[in-house]
Amino acid sequence: MITYNDGLFTITTDSFTYQMKKDAFGHLLHLYYGSPIEGDASSLLSLRDRGFSAVPYEAGLDRSYSYDYLPLEVSVLGDGDFRTPGIIIEQEDGTLSASFRYLCHRIYKGGALLEGLPCGRIDDGESLEITLKEDLSGAELILTYTAKDSSLLRGMKLVAKDKKITLKKALYSMDTIAMDQDVIWFDGRHCSERNKKRAHIDTSTLTFSSRRGATSHQMNNSFILCSHETTEDHGEAVLLSLLWSGSFTFFAEKDQYDSVRCGLGAGSEFFSYDLKNQELVLPQLLLTYSPNGLGDLSVKNNRFVTNYIRRKMTGGLKNPVLLNNWEATYFDFNGDKLISIAKEAKNLGCDLFVLDDGWFGKRNDDYSSLGDWFENRDKLGMSLDELSARIKSLGIGFGLWVEPEMVSEDSDLYRKHPEWALAVPGKAPTRGRHQLVLDLSNREVVEYIKNTLDDLINRGNLDFMKWDYNRFITDFHSSVTLPGRIEYDYIKGLYSIFEYLGNKHPSLLIEGCSGGGGRFDLGMLYYTPQSWLSDDTDAIERIDIEFGSSYIYPISSFGSHVSAVPNHQTKRVTPLFTRSSVAMLGSYGLELDPTKLSEEEKAEIRREIKEYKELCPIIKDGDFYRLLNTPDASCCLSISEDKKDGVLIAVRRLSHGNPKDHYVRLKGLDNKTLYRLGDKVFYGSFLMNYGLLLPFTYSEDLEAIRVRIKAL
Ligand code: DGJ
Repeated sequence: MITYNDGLFTITTDSFTYQMKKDAFGHLLHLYYGSPIEGDASSLLSLRDRGFSAVPYEAGLDRSYSYDYLPLEVSVLGDGDFRTPGIIIEQEDGTLSASFRYLCHRIYKGGALLEGLPCGRIDDGESLEITLKEDLSGAELILTYTAKDSSLLRGMKLVAKDKKITLKKALYSMDTIAMDQDVIWFDGRHCSERNKKRAHIDTSTLTFSSRRGATSHQMNNSFILCSHETTEDHGEAVLLSLLWSGSFTFFAEKDQYDSVRCGLGAGSEFFSYDLKNQELVLPQLLLTYSPNGLGDLSVKNNRFVTNYIRRKMTGGLKNPVLLNNWEATYFDFNGDKLISIAKEAKNLGCDLFVLDDGWFGKRNDDYSSLGDWFENRDKLGMSLDELSARIKSLGIGFGLWVEPEMVSEDSDLYRKHPEWALAVPGKAPTRGRHQLVLDLSNREVVEYIKNTLDDLINRGNLDFMKWDYNRFITDFHSSVTLPGRIEYDYIKGLYSIFEYLGNKHPSLLIEGCSGGGGRFDLGMLYYTPQSWLSDDTDAIERIDIEFGSSYIYPISSFGSHVSAVPNHQTKRVTPLFTRSSVAMLGSYGLELDPTKLSEEEKAEIRREIKEYKELCPIIKDGDFYRLLNTPDASCCLSISEDKKDGVLIAVRRLSHGNPKDHYVRLKGLDNKTLYRLGDKVFYGSFLMNYGLLLPFTYSEDLEAIRVRIKAL
């Protein structure tokens, strides 16, 4: 429910209350965000003289009122608030000052629909729209709030009038009065994405960002704010996650009175967007709240993402188990080899064969051909449509790898259109994986990509596309777009391609990828319902990547494959059952050459695929709980929403002489229900309050167990 009463805006669901107030001068104060409350939270504000804090002119001689300490909904540089601002506006004459005041508001049914940007697909919720007007330029800032279950989507749009303004920073802020808080972030590197880290918020400002033009492996654009005491099972926590795939900035700081401010939004130092009689819609921010710890927070958030953000496929292959040939062949294949792999994949029970890098132009390594999206007939020994038809005749779907945002200097496309690559005139462009980035802020380039891919999908009769992105943007200079606009316009261009392809080919499943999980975010999940999780295919390393990612995204969105041993990244030899168990925590697939497997391995993989297909509804629609994650062992549980059917998966790393036992307490079950686990039967209350002895055999390193949990 959303109410407005004498300047007080209250957004309440069964799970939270979010409250704001228009003050006497029209500024919007942020009052409260947490478990549901009744009443006006402004009664907690302490108005007293604060030394050296600026006072708004309208407050006259009253020194007790200052935006330097009051919790604000919109924090702006140059309006008497010395804390880190969320928004910086440069006026036409270069002045860094702005002041936003209430103009009007409306409350309406349904969600806020954003054109050309990802947004929550909510038809039955309620939304609030508040319009603020800026004193100097007359520009309007339109704030939107859509509440549903435990989540709130915030939106911002800036509408400039006939005075030019430049938006230099555009972050959502969250102010909380005097509370000890921690921030959790997810950092990493290529092959090691989303490591969970935690720090106490203090007076020095913590900032995390990506200035890479993409979300990045190095820092995810989701953060958790929680009380200092919050654990996996107890305490308040809020997840903030941007529906955005480009550069971003986050900060968190404690002010002089111990109140916490954090900010999160699109754009880095490269962002500077000038507007005159134009508007800019900023990406939405998802906030999910839980009073019951980080485990419950992930469950709630993942349900919301599954129901309202992540793309739902209507036609096409349903949860296909795929085989991807990258680690099987790298660039070294021909059409016959691919067909023999696809045939064996079909025999094992796969639904889809995905042909990875190396099928186009004259690409036999990563030095050339990006941009030339026509098949290499000499290498394949046939045309793309023939290859596709022959693979499909085996009774298996066909998918193709593309990297449409990139261009190799050694390509026909670059020779024809060097101006389509982002590069700074007079300066040699910086290369990444020997390639340049196409200028997706240029409509001509976007149109070219749309048409090329449309043609490719038709010619290849594609069921699936793996969309890769293997370097970040360094040279923010376009032949058509002002430099400060590129970060934003590039991503809008990218989204417009997904919109186009989604409308034209509704049953085409697109898997996001950026050298693994370098652009894994809610913006991408809105268009590409799954993403290749990491280029590290080692099962043991992937457990940590899966656990880290599960704080933010549903596990079924993780492209998860069983790879060959020794593993290509770590050289580790992990038992097949363990590799498969870890891959089951995601959208399952194979990343190996099935023609090289022994008959025994093939039989095991066949059984594993069959089992995954049985478990898939739980993995896809159920709730995921992390039960244990230590250097010694990890354990997690996926349980259907009706709490009747689940699977527990645990992996123990190194063996020890005289090993200790491993016990876990289960979560998400029904206390009074009897569950069968193998040949034993337990009440939910027993498993959740006392626990379960994990049935490891302790006979070898890297041992996995899977326990099916079924309500009687
Ligand atoms: C990076 C991806 O993450 C890999 O899976 C593979 O597709 C390569 N690119 C191909 O170049």
